[in-house]
Amino acid sequence: MKKLNLKLLFDISLIIVMKKIIISAVAQNGVIGKSSGEMPWHSKEEFQHFKDSTLGFPVIMGRKTFDTLGKPLKNRLNIVLTRNEKLLLAFTEIVIFDSLQSAYGFCEEKKYEKIFIIGGAEIYKQAMNSADELLISYMKFNADGDIYFPEIDNNIWEVNRIEERNGFDIFNYIRKN
Ligand SMILES: NC(=O)c1ccc[n+]([C@@H]2O[C@H](COP(=O)([O-])OP(=O)(O)OC[C@H]3O[C@@H](n4cnc5c(N)ncnc54)[C@H](OP(=O)(O)O)[C@@H]3O)[C@@H](O)[C@H]2O)c1
Repeated sequence: MKKLNLKLLFDISLIIVMKKIIISAVAQNGVIGKSSGEMPWHSKEEFQHFKDSTLGFPVIMGRKTFDTLGKPLKNRLNIVLTRNEKLLLAFTEIVIFDSLQSAYGFCEEKKYEKIFIIGGAEIYKQAMNSADELLISYMKFNADGDIYFPEIDNNIWEVNRIEERNGFDIFNYIRKN
């Protein structure tokens, strides 16, 4: 009996719970982008934070965000959500899925410890219900744009950690118990 319980404990410890983290940079007025695809701002330091956080982990993005990047992000598994498979066949280093759940399933099978949902607004909105954490860089300026980060519900999310950086603050939110 004791032996059996120990085995069960060992098996449970082998189950990796994959953390799903939404990462975004948000201006004071809530803007994250422009529908023209142009970047509303450039912050070297914020981009470095994005890079440091996501390197080595899968990044999940919507097709329009991929269009604005123009090419895959290096040293990360790039997962693009689209309903149009043909569109991205030119890029062999990209994995395409037609739903967020299939993308999660793929990463879970590969036993990633964490994955990052990197936008844009459509994908953030869909991922808010399933994400475990939010990592939001609040830029200290208003930006010109028409694409916004979805509302962060204070009944669901609480601030776990704040880091001050040059020109922005990074808020880490976790789910309330
Ligand atoms: N500040 C930031 O942190 C940040 C981060 C990322 C992006 N952005 C900005 O956000 C903007 C793009 O955001 P967006 O909301 O317009 O577009 P998006 O979320 O990047 O992409 C939307 C597209 O994703 C695909 N899609 C959405 N839901 C899907 C699902 N459930 N299954 C399969 N495919 C799905 C569809 O592609 P198809 O039409 O091909 O089917 C849809 O047109 C850009 O301006 C970008 O610069 C900002």
